[in-house]
Amino acid sequence: MMSDGGNGRTRREDPNRRDNGPESRRSPDRRGQACGSEHVVVETRGLKKTYYGKVPVHVLHGIDMQVREGEFIAIIGQSGSGKSTLLNILGCLDRPTGGEVCINGHNTARLDDNALADLRSGTIGFVFQFHYLLDEFTCLENALMPISIRQGSPNQEESERVIGLLKRVGLGKQLNQTPDTMSGGQNQRCAIVRALANAPDLILADEPTGNLDSRSGAEVFEMLREMNRETGSAVIMVTHDDRLAQAADRILLIEDGYMREVDAEEEKERIAGHRLTAGT
Ligand SMILES: Nc1ncnc2c1ncn2[C@@H]1O[C@H](COP(=O)(O)OP(=O)(O)OP(=O)(O)O)[C@@H](O)[C@H]1O
Ligand SMILES: [Mg+2]
Repeated sequence: MMSDGGNGRTRREDPNRRDNGPESRRSPDRRGQACGSEHVVVETRGLKKTYYGKVPVHVLHGIDMQVREGEFIAIIGQSGSGKSTLLNILGCLDRPTGGEVCINGHNTARLDDNALADLRSGTIGFVFQFHYLLDEFTCLENALMPISIRQGSPNQEESERVIGLLKRVGLGKQLNQTPDTMSGGQNQRCAIVRALANAPDLILADEPTGNLDSRSGAEVFEMLREMNRETGSAVIMVTHDDRLAQAADRILLIEDGYMREVDAEEEKERIAGHRLTAGT
């Protein structure tokens, strides 16, 4: 069992969190005017993104989405449809060119870069396709990195909590190993614990199983799913794997710059159609 285990309520009473409880999370403050709905972690209205290079690339034309506390969402769509673009915007790593984005009740358009970084480090954990762990640090040091970046050295309670998480995902024996001596699946599990280190309300995972063999991929996915159930962190996961998508609470498809919800049956038909077209 995780050290802060149980449900979302216990997690949100964690004294290590920088803001304590829903009141402060949602109230209008220096981090921006309150927006979004109650119990909603992510809300977008008419979100647009165009990349302005030599030729403008219009990627997202108007995305409306809502993700509630504790939900596990799969985002699917063809390569180039804008999945990573959307995740970068939800993760406050990039700004939209139109529309509104509310993260935990904060309108990101009203935040300056510092406040955005603050919101990011206090609210969001990232898991990328390539784990980006640092080989000069041990597995434990990597997992503690978000805490170290936020406040310098982690206190004993925080260290114990992260060690507990690493043990929980089967990395108890790898605590002092460096990533280059660990398998791909072990690296990715460590990266997931790193994403959870700050007890985030939202985990954004961009193809977290994409570079793993199917067995390690399934293990990593299961772990993400369990963590979501145990901690109540909402998860938004981009995936090309329809079996993983079907294990989410909801599947959202990005198509032609818009988003719509698809049910598991429609997703199966969509994939079957692709296989037929591809001749597999
Ligand atoms: N920095 C950028 N400048 C210009 N165009 C970009 C930039 N980043 C992405 N794009 C374009 O935006 C579109 C969406 O890219 P994005 O990476 O979001 O797709 P994706 O759905 O994540 O694809 P994949 O499944 O292959 O990862 C693509 O046409 C891409 O070429
Ligand atoms: Mg992508």
